[in-house]
Amino acid sequence: MKSVKDIDVAGKTVLVRVDFNVPLDEHQNITDDIRIRSVLPTLKYIVEHKGKLIIASHMGRPKGIVDDRFSLKPVAVCLGKLIGKDVSIAPDCVGEEVKKMVSDLKEEDILLLENLRFHKEEQENDKAFGKALSELCDIYVNDAFAVSHRKNASVHAIAEFVSMKCAGFLLLKELAYFDKAMANPKRPLVAVVGGAKVSSKLCALENMLNNVDKLIIGGAMANTFLKALGYDMGSSKIENDLVDKASDIIKRAGQKNIKLYLPVDVVAADKIDAAADIKNVTVQEIPSEWMALDVGPATSFLFAEALNDAGTIVWNGPLGIFEMEPFSKGTMFMAAIIAGSSAVTIVGGGDTDVAIHKSGKAEKVTYISTGGGAFLCLLEGKKLPAVEVL
Ligand code: 3PG
Repeated sequence: MKSVKDIDVAGKTVLVRVDFNVPLDEHQNITDDIRIRSVLPTLKYIVEHKGKLIIASHMGRPKGIVDDRFSLKPVAVCLGKLIGKDVSIAPDCVGEEVKKMVSDLKEEDILLLENLRFHKEEQENDKAFGKALSELCDIYVNDAFAVSHRKNASVHAIAEFVSMKCAGFLLLKELAYFDKAMANPKRPLVAVVGGAKVSSKLCALENMLNNVDKLIIGGAMANTFLKALGYDMGSSKIENDLVDKASDIIKRAGQKNIKLYLPVDVVAADKIDAAADIKNVTVQEIPSEWMALDVGPATSFLFAEALNDAGTIVWNGPLGIFEMEPFSKGTMFMAAIIAGSSAVTIVGGGDTDVAIHKSGKAEKVTYISTGGGAFLCLLEGKKLPAVEVL
């Protein structure tokens, strides 16, 4: 796979696919610009090397309909400030007007195309749409790690039609860090997996059994594992159809000599509400009408001890409903442990990123992935389709 550095961009139109799917508040203000800042090295490199820069992205899921709430206009303003240059925005991403704007570009100019998902063909991976995008440029760069698990036209179909294609710096960095963490880890390699559902992490858990030395499981998904061990989890959320699968994972971890850690106590509440009655109880003593909504303090210390000698830590998924203060302590404690660890620490997944930023310790982590689904896809041991076509 070529890097943008391997290609002479001077005087060429360079289309960079990025993932500017950033969160907006009700006034269309960007509440987290990390995905924009993360691709600045690629964008600046192209401008500094006299390319004519076209940027393409999706935002949200407008399902092929033009909807101003999903316009990339706020992103153009934010990017202009970050890069210190004017960023023009096209009214669309394909069509005659866009072609004209592209042909008027001069070296070092920057044109942001409007949301790719205003065309349903983008998510259908439509070849004609991919071809239309390819015709805008001399060189195609994928720097959109976070959407590279999708077979969408601008990251997949397009590759068949462009004469020159390569990866941007963010994509290369994401893949390199993941490789460092999972393929060539400093051991012991410890995975911390949380989140609401076993079902969404099942493939990742199974794949990790091939690689990790220790597996720490928290979040609501731990309930299903604890049930598999015979604990009465009260009214906690359980995926009953996956209890056998959880048993099987526990058994296989044992056979492979992987140390598996589950909560020993929980923060239990009588309802999912920040104002609920709450108490810390051992997993042996969860009252029947109560539910586990966070790991308890004894568990946090147990997990901290298990992470003490880690060479590499990969964390995906919060350990409780961290959005509500009474159930956030387990996740925040984990963020602090990871931030304070001397291990190589890699954090990925939408909620996990939010949690680590909320903890105020993000800069202490070795690498925070910009991908949610794409990071999980790598944890599952799968190839990213958009990377394959490069
Ligand atoms: C993400 O935010 O994970 C990516 O932008 C992909 O978005 P999608 O899940 O809507 O395809």
